[in-house]
Amino acid sequence: VTVEWSLEAAEKGGHPHYMLKEIYEQPRVLENTLGGRLHEEEAGVELGLKLEPTRYDKVHIVACGTAYYAAWVGKYLLEALARVPVEIDVASEYRYRDPVVDEKTLAICISQSGETIDTLEAIREAGRKGAGTLGVINAKGSSITREVDDTLYIHAGPEIGVASTKAYIAMLAAMAMLAVWMGRARGSLDEKTAREFLGEMRKLPRLVEEALELRPQVAHIAEKYHQAQDYLFLGRHIQAPTAYEGALKLKEISYIHAEAYPAGEMKHGPIALIDERLPVVVLATQSPFYEKTVSNIQEVRARGGRVIAVATEGDTEVKKFAQDVIYVPKTHHLLAPVVSVVPLQLLAYETAVCLGRDVDQPRNLAKSVTVE
Ligand code: AGP
Repeated sequence: VTVEWSLEAAEKGGHPHYMLKEIYEQPRVLENTLGGRLHEEEAGVELGLKLEPTRYDKVHIVACGTAYYAAWVGKYLLEALARVPVEIDVASEYRYRDPVVDEKTLAICISQSGETIDTLEAIREAGRKGAGTLGVINAKGSSITREVDDTLYIHAGPEIGVASTKAYIAMLAAMAMLAVWMGRARGSLDEKTAREFLGEMRKLPRLVEEALELRPQVAHIAEKYHQAQDYLFLGRHIQAPTAYEGALKLKEISYIHAEAYPAGEMKHGPIALIDERLPVVVLATQSPFYEKTVSNIQEVRARGGRVIAVATEGDTEVKKFAQDVIYVPKTHHLLAPVVSVVPLQLLAYETAVCLGRDVDQPRNLAKSVTVE
């Protein structure tokens, strides 16, 4: 038994679970995803892609689960930096809705495994309709990579934990590079802005390393709220998908019901959910939408909600309204999802451990959904 334990322990890098090992691998994963592809001097990225970005006048992105939230972050990045209209859809919807696609559509699919049947069939549908197809994929040589016109590998390494963590953060980095790639080619992203953005991207491994130091504080919050029956996650703009990803992580490994909303949607119904038993995680990092998000926090507090705010280091405002504040390192607001997701991954992990869940193999879930 001792030998088995030590082999397995070695595989987990000494961590109790693959998921925790993979959360801690994220700084190195980002180095690998970005490594050698960022070229500040040329104010661009080198992705080794055959596709010609200027051929396309719209982008579709299809994916499932966590990869879909990476697609949603990708929509904000591509529309901000490349000024190209982006439609996103969960692959199981896209493949059956007879989407409007032509040869000027770039259809991107995002998949860690490269085997998800809905995503494979969705990108096949786009290809049948004449789109240029690009896979943002982790698993080398997987089925999707054999069907798309081009593949951008995210180099996250094998991901064992069913709940995706390091692959997600690598997907976000890949979408940021694609946004620079298209923006520079289409002339919507000038040299100076591109250089600054690439400089911010290069800092991400270190910022994620710093965010991992939040674990003790997050573990305390997880313990405080692990008996909650429900959680609510709120975010605005590019932090809305971060809220949805945080809710999904919590659901799939702790089995606590958690839902997410764009923060501005609260007044259209969900605010009726608020009471003192409901922990509300609010992504309130520095951004052009910060003031609006703080007012959402005040709305929740006024109704007795328990607010756990994710805010930017140095923010002295938000602690006036939130019971708990998790301070993450400052970064460009379009890159905030990369740093902000780390405490949410840790919140899900620590909550699941509190509840004695099978973190690496949650009930009812498979690592890759290869059947409909
Ligand atoms: C993520 O934590 C889940 N395990 C699941 O939603 C996953 O993201 C989804 O099944 C897509 O998988 P893929 O990235 O391998 O296509």
